[in-house]
Amino acid sequence: MPADPPRLYTDKFTFCSGMCSIGEAGSNHPEAFAAMAKVTDICGLILKTPKLAPSIEFYEKCWGLERIEHPGTDTIFFKGASNEPFIFGLEPGERRSVAMIRFTLDSAAAVDSMHDDLKAADVEILKAPDLLQLPGNYYGFQFKDPDGTPVELSTLDDGVPADTPGEGFLPQRLSHMVLNSPDNRALRDFYVRYLGFELADWYAKDAFFFLRCNEQHHCLGLEKCDNSSLNHVAFLLEDLDAMMRFAGRMANMGITPLWGPGRHGPGGNCFCYFEDPAGYVLEATSELIFIPRGDQWTPREWQPGPENANVWLTGGRTERAIQLMSNH
Ligand SMILES: [Fe+2]
Repeated sequence: MPADPPRLYTDKFTFCSGMCSIGEAGSNHPEAFAAMAKVTDICGLILKTPKLAPSIEFYEKCWGLERIEHPGTDTIFFKGASNEPFIFGLEPGERRSVAMIRFTLDSAAAVDSMHDDLKAADVEILKAPDLLQLPGNYYGFQFKDPDGTPVELSTLDDGVPADTPGEGFLPQRLSHMVLNSPDNRALRDFYVRYLGFELADWYAKDAFFFLRCNEQHHCLGLEKCDNSSLNHVAFLLEDLDAMMRFAGRMANMGITPLWGPGRHGPGGNCFCYFEDPAGYVLEATSELIFIPRGDQWTPREWQPGPENANVWLTGGRTERAIQLMSNH
């Protein structure tokens, strides 16, 4: 019996017809570096915050993360409702800035191989491969990406943890993060060429690139901006019901969304954005498009506009959301 033809996702959102178009091939299809290793997931984010005490309280009591005791460091670690040893961290800082973005490699050999590839490419290495001083037995290394953002690539010594469905409709793990960059095209090329990401979709005129590293439509977004900073970080909720229950939980604590609930066009994920005490933008998300391994995916260009930013048209992005996402 002949195998099923590869699935095309052009019918996923039929309402896109006329709003988005297949982009030109060529410059928006950067070539991947023929490296042995590639990033397989996003596993964590550590942020510097000028509002440490109220932020710790916010992430524990409102955002529903569990604080992890890990003495000997200034970093406060938090776990989600999954088996990942920790997914989020806070450090004291004079202003908002990214202390470390963290991605997964699938073996210690991949860590060593990727380190050697980046070192040979004259990438600034911050820490050579070693067992990291973090909750969990992570073996990894750290470097700076072209925008100077510290990045850690690591693997768990005892294997990649299996996710456990969370109880109580709370954030399970990170879904994706979005970085602002004055040259998001160069940043895209770096993550594709050296870390093995693939382009998933993009907004016209280099406004935004969606990059994927596994079956999820994207785990990294790169938005064109006048500064290098974190645009937002998204936490995964189990499904749409869990996301709405989470939004309700926040509302009952008097915390209103910056934007949403809504549903994005590219990626198809449902969203509700909030603000933490220091002004970081957090997204509660679910339903991101899942592309089964082996299926064909054709990246395409989307036109910026409210109908693609939120296909439900349930409300526009607030001015404050725009201001905080662009780090102004
Ligand atoms: Fe997002």
